Amino acid sequence: MTSPVQIRKAIIPAAGLGTRLYPATKSQPKEMLPLGRKPAIQLVAEEAVCAGLNQILIITGQKKRAIEDHFDQNNQLYAEALETGLVQRSILDEPGRANFFYTRQHGPRGLGDAVYCARDFVDAEHFVVALGDAVIARYGRVKRLLTRLIEAHLEREAAATIAVREVPRSALSSYGIVAPAGEVDSVFDLKDLVEKPAPEEAPSNLAITARYVFSPELFSYIERTGAGYGGEIQLTDAIKLMLQDGRRVVAVRLAPLEKRYDLGSFQDYALAFIEVALADESGGAELRHRLQALLEEPAPTSLLVGDQD
Ligand code: UTP
Repeated sequence: MTSPVQIRKAIIPAAGLGTRLYPATKSQPKEMLPLGRKPAIQLVAEEAVCAGLNQILIITGQKKRAIEDHFDQNNQLYAEALETGLVQRSILDEPGRANFFYTRQHGPRGLGDAVYCARDFVDAEHFVVALGDAVIARYGRVKRLLTRLIEAHLEREAAATIAVREVPRSALSSYGIVAPAGEVDSVFDLKDLVEKPAPEEAPSNLAITARYVFSPELFSYIERTGAGYGGEIQLTDAIKLMLQDGRRVVAVRLAPLEKRYDLGSFQDYALAFIEVALADESGGAELRHRLQALLEEPAPTSLLVGDQD
């Protein structure tokens, strides 16, 4: 049975410090770093709008003003660039497709605390959370992940619905790992979540993946969530409380044609940029050619710029 509930709000947390990418993110948001031609957070917002979400709240903090400037509709030079065809039109350029709102998290106190900043905006509606530093790309005709998440959430009348993907054993201790309640399918129920487990203690090889749908009751669970990993209010801990209370939590697996690109670490970011750039319609083929030639040269051991003799 399909519920009459409609989901139209997306929360994009973007208030983290991005310390793993210092010095690149000392004074600019990591969410504004480009993946190919676009800042990562633009790709995240496009993903949300393509899934029918039209009320977008971005959680910002110190040094994050560039995000508001980026989504400002009143930009003459950009309008001219669109007119002359210098840049390709995005779904966000279509009038009325999306409204952007901003609120500030007062200090990076964790993802749970960041999402809690959205409580007045969300009010009594179910809503999506899409992390501002992770992009889900499709390399083929597969129904959008956010659409599948919303459908599963409504059909199963869940309190929380979480995207998950398989990760290698060596990476299990870097992620929140889910414990399935029964058989694992493309959509399945959860019985628990374990934050950053040792590989031998991990309940599965499926990691929580940057996209969620929540009932507004999430906020009461965040209120009951104490400081967790790293002394921060963790979203995972609030979802665990939901499960302990007997609330239904569902997982949706990424499809084989989907990939998550992450700006967390230097290697993740560098690889994500290259992959997205290689898929670029007008520049990707030439880039592949030049990259192949570069990879045939001997590997440089260090780049001597700004070093001291
Ligand atoms: P991360 O923990 O990966 O980002 O949060 P970070 O804290 O910026 O990273 P490092 O460890 O310092 O390099 C995932 C997403 O959640 C947001 C971040 O901006 C990022 O988009 N976030 C995280 C918040 O909005 N507030 C927080 O307190 C923490």
